Amino acid sequence: MNNLIVKNASQVVTCSGFAGKRGKEMSDLQVIENGTVVVTGGVISHVLKEGESIPINPSHYKVISAEGKALLPGFVDPHTHFVFGGYREEEFAWRMRGDSYMDIMNRGGGIVNTTRATRAASEDELFAVGKQRLDAMMQLGITTVEGKSGYGLDKETELKQLRVMRRLNEEHPVDIVSTFMGAHATPAEWKGREDEFIDFNINEVMPVVKQEKLAECADIFCEKNVFTTGQSRRYLTAARKHGFKLKIHADEIVSFGGAELAAELGCLSADHLLQASDEGIRAMAQEGVVATLLPLTAFSLREEFARARTMIQNNCMVALATDFNPGSSFSASVPLLFALACIYMKMSPEEAVTAFTINSAAAVGRADKIGSIDVGKQGDLVLLKFPSYKFLPYHVGMNIVDTVIKNGKEYSEK
Ligand code: NIG
Ligand code: FE
Repeated sequence: MNNLIVKNASQVVTCSGFAGKRGKEMSDLQVIENGTVVVTGGVISHVLKEGESIPINPSHYKVISAEGKALLPGFVDPHTHFVFGGYREEEFAWRMRGDSYMDIMNRGGGIVNTTRATRAASEDELFAVGKQRLDAMMQLGITTVEGKSGYGLDKETELKQLRVMRRLNEEHPVDIVSTFMGAHATPAEWKGREDEFIDFNINEVMPVVKQEKLAECADIFCEKNVFTTGQSRRYLTAARKHGFKLKIHADEIVSFGGAELAAELGCLSADHLLQASDEGIRAMAQEGVVATLLPLTAFSLREEFARARTMIQNNCMVALATDFNPGSSFSASVPLLFALACIYMKMSPEEAVTAFTINSAAAVGRADKIGSIDVGKQGDLVLLKFPSYKFLPYHVGMNIVDTVIKNGKEYSEK
């Protein structure tokens, strides 16, 4: 029946709001001390202050006593590539030895390496590994995750990845927002014909993805030696005509005008942004593009972190994501994400919480449904083992999730 009362939480960290938060607004979490949250039929029905009586018949509800524990909205991870075949542990070792991510990609490793393994994997195999990964994410408090295709780079395998995500969305408690990323890299058979490969994606793949309702968003890797801003503009403009929301991997390795392009096209989010220019940052703030930052990737690639402080000072909406993928960030570690965001990117604990709840919900176009503890939103909550959200970055690298609640259902052991 999915009726639940979480009673007397030391903090109810509401992150209240129905849209992403910009700049200074990111610091205001709207915390209720000793609060109670009621979920009725899977939807948040009451958010109560200390001493307010519970206006429902508790006999129809499961009750969780949350004394000494902080309650937050379920985490939203707005950028991952979690459905893939194979692993790339050799490439990681090469990187530790000094090879760059791009060196490895240019000599036929990287994304196209995973593409070989993903093409070879059956739908059931991808489903099985995808499910394990979602289980692990849920234990870390993630209740909605964005997932991208982009390890098929041919029609059949792109559709296979997206169908796996559809099935996982139906069968696993974690919600999945699917993104079509046919332009993640150029596979060997199209090398040197990048413009034609973009045409192929626009004309042959996108219409099927749209028709079969396999993705809500479209994404491209806009980067030197991957896809140019011109190719990205063409791909994303076509995607918009098909009705997809737009995302872009922008300015990850070099400053390439990706942030500016995201603003020009009114993308929902621009992601990575390690090398985003001042002008690009201002343009994103102006146009309301969510800046999705991926500290686990910068850390794993041993790169400088994105300039979160500059973005917040310029009134951007900043979101955080794990970027879980087999190459640049083989991790969905929420604890490490919070630690890196605060310790290295100098975000405050409040800003980091906003960035992984309401702002990450905005980055997937769902700030009206998830990402905060507000009446009418999905009953997706995470209860911590500690009394304050401040323990998230402070207890470095430790999973402090006590209980995950998805649509009002409790998952303690998962
Ligand atoms: O977001 N940068 C491009 N795409 C992924 C990495 C994918 C991979 O290396 O397999 C990213 O970091
Ligand atoms: Fe990515």
